[in-house]
Amino acid sequence: MVQGGVEGMKIVTIVGARPQFIKAAAVTRAIQRYNKRCPSKQRLQEILVHTGQHYDYLMDKVFFEELKLPTPDYQLGVGSGSHAQQTGMMLEGIERVLEKENPGMVIVYGDTNSTLAGALAAAKVNIPVAHVEAGLRSYNRTMPEEINRLLTDHLSTLLFCPTAQAVQNLLKEGIKDGKGKIVKKVGDVMYDSILYYSKLAEKKSTILKDLCFAGAAPNSELKTPSYYLATLHRAENTDNLKRLKSILRALNEIGENIPVVLPLHPRTKKMMRVYRLFSGFKNIKFIEPISYLDMLALEKNAKAILTDSGGVQKEAYWFNVPCFTLREETEWVETIRKNCNVLVGADGKRIVSEVKKLKLRRNKRGATENYGDGKAGEKIVKILIFRNKDVF
Ligand code: UD1
Ligand code: UDP
Repeated sequence: MVQGGVEGMKIVTIVGARPQFIKAAAVTRAIQRYNKRCPSKQRLQEILVHTGQHYDYLMDKVFFEELKLPTPDYQLGVGSGSHAQQTGMMLEGIERVLEKENPGMVIVYGDTNSTLAGALAAAKVNIPVAHVEAGLRSYNRTMPEEINRLLTDHLSTLLFCPTAQAVQNLLKEGIKDGKGKIVKKVGDVMYDSILYYSKLAEKKSTILKDLCFAGAAPNSELKTPSYYLATLHRAENTDNLKRLKSILRALNEIGENIPVVLPLHPRTKKMMRVYRLFSGFKNIKFIEPISYLDMLALEKNAKAILTDSGGVQKEAYWFNVPCFTLREETEWVETIRKNCNVLVGADGKRIVSEVKKLKLRRNKRGATENYGDGKAGEKIVKILIFRNKDVF
């Protein structure tokens, strides 16, 4: 056995929300590849815990099927609720799993309530926490995600940063490599996933054919249908009538010539009902949430993307599709610096006028730099195995 290695370590992975399935897929695949290559006693044993934060078929199982994720070993079935209810139930459930499994490490992803619950439950029973997507900051503490990120990073022993900026952000908070912490820039696991799955999406996804772009015949020059793609689910937008109405109206105006396709997140659907926003958006093509392969196909071929999603901003960047972010700030500052992404907030006039200036927004260099080389999953596994040695 290699010195510094961790023989047969048992790892508990915590997931619960849509983007976490996509992130975990990259690391789980790297673990499986590592296990195939090494003697059985050195294999990593991954126990998958699903908190149940997302549970609709189109927010959950479809990703397990498409990404070929293993069936969770534990399904906590927590479901929806207030932050305290949801996080509290997760804490209880995760603690029970940790007591039973006694793993050497817990891995959490991103910034959801499932992330925080996993990190807190593990840290309280002295199990080292590995945070994938560490160091991201919006510096807006009204976002629940910002609270989750901050606390998770401060509870973690291994901090896997997607970018150099993330490493810097941690440094400002006194979190740095050494003295019992491992802080490494490994690249973005979502970039691993997009590289791996976009070829599959080209082969398998039929969404471009299936969608009928009423009012917009396939553009003969591009040989693809012409549409804008939008996603919207951030609480600051959906749970605020003024912002939600303003964004939907702007999308409807943008959709006058070229339709806007909007796979509707269940939170947004719920809030549109609550606010009785039923009509007046005939240029928006509302569809159910879609699978990852369908999403990749739609993103890649969109004229531009309007979104408040973290993951979708980066995917737009990687696909070289202009992005308009329906927020006042972003954690993914590299996409802004490269002039591939612009913050448009929720002000209708600003959104429409920025989209009109579209041609400025194309990323000429096809830049995927800043987010690693598509091998973040492998780097993470390497560090997990040799965590006592500086391998980078
Ligand atoms: C959560 C994360 C957010 C992440 C997003 C990814 C937190 C605080 N927020 O937001 O960071 O960007 O996931 O999509 O963890 N619902 C359903 N079916 C489902 C899931 C949710 O109907 O399968 C509805 C419920 O009405 C629920 C609402 O959506 O109350 C919000 O769900 P929740 O998981 O609390 O937060 P998200 O908005 O999904
Ligand atoms: N996504 C998807 N189907 C959808 C909307 C999003 O597969 O209908 C994917 C998207 O491609 C990205 C991830 O989900 O990989 C982003 O998740 P989400 O926007 O829910 O959360 P965030 O990234 O903002 O935390």
